[in-house]
Amino acid sequence: MKIFTPETINAPATLTHAVLKQWVADMATLTQPTSVYWADGSAAEYDRLCAEMVATGMFVKLNPERRPNSYLACSDPSDVARVEDRTFICSTREEDAGPTNNWQDPVQMKATLQGLFKGCMQGRTMYVIPFSMGPLGSPIAHIGVEISDSPYVVVNMKIMTRMGRGALEVLGTDGRFVPCVHSVGAPIAAGEADSRWPCNRTTKYIVHFPETREIWSYGSGYGGNALLGKKCFALRIASNMARDEGWLAEHMLILGVENPQGRKTYVAAAFPSACGKTNFAMLIPPASFNGWKITTVGDDIAWIKPGQDGRLYAINPEAGFFGVAPGTSEKTNFNAMATLKENVIFTNVALTDEGDVWWEGMTKEPPAHLIDWTGQDWTPAIARETGRKAAHPNSRFTAPARQCPSIDADWENPAGVPLSAFIFGGRRATTVPLVYEAFNWNFGVYMAATLGSETTAAAVGEQGIVRRDPFAMLPFCGYHIGDYFNHWLSIGRHVEQKPHIFCVNWFRMNAQGEFMWPGFGENMRVLKWIVGRVNGEAGATETDLGWVPRYEDIDWSGSDIGRAEFEPLTRIDTEAWHTELSQHQDWFAKLGAQLPKPLTLKHELLNIRMRGDSIAS
Ligand code: OXD
Ligand code: MN
Repeated sequence: MKIFTPETINAPATLTHAVLKQWVADMATLTQPTSVYWADGSAAEYDRLCAEMVATGMFVKLNPERRPNSYLACSDPSDVARVEDRTFICSTREEDAGPTNNWQDPVQMKATLQGLFKGCMQGRTMYVIPFSMGPLGSPIAHIGVEISDSPYVVVNMKIMTRMGRGALEVLGTDGRFVPCVHSVGAPIAAGEADSRWPCNRTTKYIVHFPETREIWSYGSGYGGNALLGKKCFALRIASNMARDEGWLAEHMLILGVENPQGRKTYVAAAFPSACGKTNFAMLIPPASFNGWKITTVGDDIAWIKPGQDGRLYAINPEAGFFGVAPGTSEKTNFNAMATLKENVIFTNVALTDEGDVWWEGMTKEPPAHLIDWTGQDWTPAIARETGRKAAHPNSRFTAPARQCPSIDADWENPAGVPLSAFIFGGRRATTVPLVYEAFNWNFGVYMAATLGSETTAAAVGEQGIVRRDPFAMLPFCGYHIGDYFNHWLSIGRHVEQKPHIFCVNWFRMNAQGEFMWPGFGENMRVLKWIVGRVNGEAGATETDLGWVPRYEDIDWSGSDIGRAEFEPLTRIDTEAWHTELSQHQDWFAKLGAQLPKPLTLKHELLNIRMRGDSIAS
């Protein structure tokens, strides 16, 4: 066994952080890589690693005339999405992880991980990846260091975070960092060839130690399982930091709405994975909305801290988009397609004969021939016969945020942007109206705490099942969800200028199973109403659920939706809500004593209102 020391890990000569060096040496001794490499985040390093992956077959370089400086990677079919059943929160006390997380005793889990990581990087390079979540040096940002044996992770982290030398400089001699250990769990024995997408087909662990703020991930090279700055750090560990320090780490996009007079209103919106967050964040208003503009701050995660002036300020801790490709087109998301013109890593989409990429929904007519994400020939006829998709439903693009045409001028402002509204949305075929505004903060917290959504391909498991996804944080809250609700209630007590809270549902269907709302750019009509409410300019009618727009409260310019179409979109079906509320009760029953009393109270109030008794909200 080779023993590594701070002197034998190839650390940059200027690095004075003794704790970091010792940790890297310890990890190298445990995992036994062939060599240790410190990522500097330079363009030259990115190009070199990509070229190396082209040589090993992990990357295909796309035709530079069509997609300059871009690559395609196709994963092992066993490694295509986040693995929620292999994701663990290892707090000292089981009750601190709560009923929505898999818990294991941290001492036992450490022992399991020590066993798995022992020698797991044999035959591979160990990359040390320092990164900042948030602009370098911002008071809202935090530093992490990921150790990984995957060059795919290094180049993705370069796009998704502020990665490399700059992060080390912020760390200085004794700065705090979140240690993130990642291995694909596939050591290479001497003389053995590497696979195209190394991973461990049978054993996967995505583990968080909230008290020591550590992350260990084993066996997967895909997305949120492997790019540890994203879900693991920016949500699961950061939600713990946020609770302790009085801020919020949320699964939210952030966008700005600019009216024709130049007034900017920022909102943050939470939707479960693969429910159109990226599309909403980059929305282009209908042509009739002359002078209205949407600007993008972030598409997935928001870190939100109270400012001196009594408002909440948000930053996007990421530097890139790791978006779902299928369904993205010039029509559904023009800005995303413009962002994807160059410098992109695609994962699990199809390769065209011209050396470019394609996925379902990118164009109306599919190309006549493709190589699908599994490496097989694909034609429309084969697809009709076999039902095989050219791109995996959870295929992704990794693209720099700065390339987005709608990027907000303040997206890297270290102070963040002030929030005026929170929006919560799920994918619901029935029951939930197009939009409504909560009566007050606590009602809004209730609505977000009981948010339901049909499951999607973003996580392994059955799709289309309604599950409670509170605050769209079910897979991402790193502690007891009841305590998390309490934290939100407490933010409401302490923040003077609270954002208004809204719920939306773009996915309601009619009896024929067709979507009733056109979505995409048309969501601007709802967004304009939301901004109008926040700024005291839009009317509404009071319903049992909250404030709902009347037909005349929405700007319908350029639309052919009439009163008759609008009514069923906003109808509150009392029968369906009786069922819904009893499901809320079942969900709340799982939280035991940790369910905050104000939420029980709101549940009772809603029950009473839906039964038709007259009582004030
Ligand atoms: C994501 C997700 O990748 O939510 O953003 O799964
Ligand atoms: Mn997400």
